[in-house]
Amino acid sequence: MSKSPQSNPKERDFSLVNIGQLVTNNSSLGTGELGLIENAAITVVAGKVTWVGASSAVDSSLPKVDAQGQSVLPGFVDSHSHIIFGGDRSQEFAARMAGVPYSAGGIKVTMAATRAASSADLKANAQSLITEMYEAGTTTVEIKSGYGLDIETEKRSVQVAAQLTDEVTYLGAHVVAPEFANDPDAYVDLVAGEMLNACAEYSKWIDVFCDRGAFTGQQTKKILEAGISKGLLPRVHLNQLEQGDHIQMAVDLDCASADHLTYLTDQDIQTLARSQTVAGLVPACDFSTRAPHYPRGRDLLDAGVSVSLSPDCNPGSSYTTNMPFSIALAVREMHLTVDEAIYAATMGGAKALRRNDVGHLSVGANADLVLLTAKNYIHLAYRPGVPLVQKVWKNGTLMFTKGDQG
Ligand code: NIG
Ligand code: FE
Repeated sequence: MSKSPQSNPKERDFSLVNIGQLVTNNSSLGTGELGLIENAAITVVAGKVTWVGASSAVDSSLPKVDAQGQSVLPGFVDSHSHIIFGGDRSQEFAARMAGVPYSAGGIKVTMAATRAASSADLKANAQSLITEMYEAGTTTVEIKSGYGLDIETEKRSVQVAAQLTDEVTYLGAHVVAPEFANDPDAYVDLVAGEMLNACAEYSKWIDVFCDRGAFTGQQTKKILEAGISKGLLPRVHLNQLEQGDHIQMAVDLDCASADHLTYLTDQDIQTLARSQTVAGLVPACDFSTRAPHYPRGRDLLDAGVSVSLSPDCNPGSSYTTNMPFSIALAVREMHLTVDEAIYAATMGGAKALRRNDVGHLSVGANADLVLLTAKNYIHLAYRPGVPLVQKVWKNGTLMFTKGDQG
């Protein structure tokens, strides 16, 4: 998602004025944890935020964009997506809603369609999902491989992802490839060996789906350690389908995030609270899989754990790119306050990607801005399902205007 259309650098210099309410996520700039400023302006030069303050005090030499009293916040940071895939699984979704439980096995259906797809088709599909993300306010996205499950297709997947974002994750360990059904440990050796060697140069992160029907804790540790020794940074899927016993391992490996966490003990929460590992909550997945309950978002925050929010876009468990929907679910179903949900969708994602240039609008940050059709950010949870994003800038370049055709 770093790859924005080329533009004359001068077009990137502007001031956004007459902002009714600006979320900076910098408490030294405004009130509360969201660092709110009323009647604000922000100036952007060469893709960076250069000044934030009262609209009346803005540098008048820059071209002005008038926010007309509406609300502005940092672009959302989506730290968990699986958008390199072929085909869809709408029939599986319909069957699930009629009572068939979700299982990791569906990943193999997408694997077949992904292996059969050209890299150009994989890229076009991912690009159209990224367009949806911009339309809903997301300006940074992590993208995983994981639907190839062989060396050639995993490599193509991370190559395509690297054309679309700087946050590429190698997830060869999504499930055991069907060719290795009788010898899962041989697949683990492949993922931690030859496949890793083929994918590492295109990847920043390594991830494993550690859960029922996927990989054990021991296998997960082996794969993550192999990735770390190749210079990749670890993150992990945990406790989506059952209560596992591996939070301590994720923390010991310094995983940047442990994601899903639908099942958590009090001890797990305490372990996360003593770590740098972000709890990556994906409530749209719990929604679309009809999980028996949502993750314990309130308890995580009360314990002091850093939380991120992501739609977890993928064709099986959560086919949505929409961060505002995730915010609404986080508030309604996990009892985050609106402020906490907005912070998780922005700064939380930045922490989960160990980035300090996104997720906030301090001077020096990337000028990733979302202008809403709403007087305040509360509307993002208060008006579920309503498209409130009016304009989106990434690195100061206008990426989306509501009502404009492609
Ligand atoms: O994050 N949990 C593992 N992977 C995906 C689902 C993959 C699929 O069903 O296709 C997820 O939910
Ligand atoms: Fe996932």
